[in-house]
Amino acid sequence: MVSTKSYPGVEYYECKVDALTTSLLVYIYWLDGILIDSGPFRLQKGIDQFCSGKRLDKIVHTHFHEDHTGNTGYLSQKYHVPAYIAPLYIEKCRKAARLPLYRQVFWGKRPAFDPLPLPDVIDNGNTRLKVIPAPGHTEDHVVFLDENEGRLFTGDLYVHYTTKVIMRQENMPVLMDSLRRLLGEDFATIFCSHAGIVENGYELLRRKLEYLEELQDRVLSLHKQGLEIKEIYQKLFPKKMPIQYASNGEWSPYHIVRSLVEDRQS
Ligand SMILES: [Fe+2]
Repeated sequence: MVSTKSYPGVEYYECKVDALTTSLLVYIYWLDGILIDSGPFRLQKGIDQFCSGKRLDKIVHTHFHEDHTGNTGYLSQKYHVPAYIAPLYIEKCRKAARLPLYRQVFWGKRPAFDPLPLPDVIDNGNTRLKVIPAPGHTEDHVVFLDENEGRLFTGDLYVHYTTKVIMRQENMPVLMDSLRRLLGEDFATIFCSHAGIVENGYELLRRKLEYLEELQDRVLSLHKQGLEIKEIYQKLFPKKMPIQYASNGEWSPYHIVRSLVEDRQS
């Protein structure tokens, strides 16, 4: 299923990706000549069609993951436009990504591209996006706030308000701090890379923080009772998900528990 849709002031590309007994929706957003993330390489044909006929001035990225940067090399060369990403992984982006096989199967490769560091504000004439660091999912993750319209482009910060599985490198306490800071900003609707446009987005980000705080309390109380990280994980998340097997453990609820406990110990 591939489609191009529009929301007042924003056009977006939507596509469902199926592989390895998992399916995920992907959303790419365009507003006022700005493409927010370039999507996975596997969807290049559809994303190229989405961009053709539009004014394209620049590609900005929420973070370096291959499902957000997979077509940047291709699009920035074809349309002669600059790409921007947070400085932390610029060097990493300049080389083709070395990905585990399951990620290559799911998203495709991520060719090299040559990004510039994101400025504090992206000003495109009629649109002004404030770049706000929002680490946790990755260290380089940012979100884009359109203060005039009350919109927040959230990349992979949200995805769902009851997070049950994360990648090994994710850090839940850091993500919770990002949520706390963002809830001090003025916005209503969020534009998520996998959940789409969420009109009660502010409320759901608040609910996500609440869910994680409650989970943190349960995890820390079990740890205080003497349970090891693995025991807490088995108790709170007894049912294994297909992605855990497919990713050889790179995706697991275990990483949620570990990051919550390690934060307490540090
Ligand atoms: Fe991601």
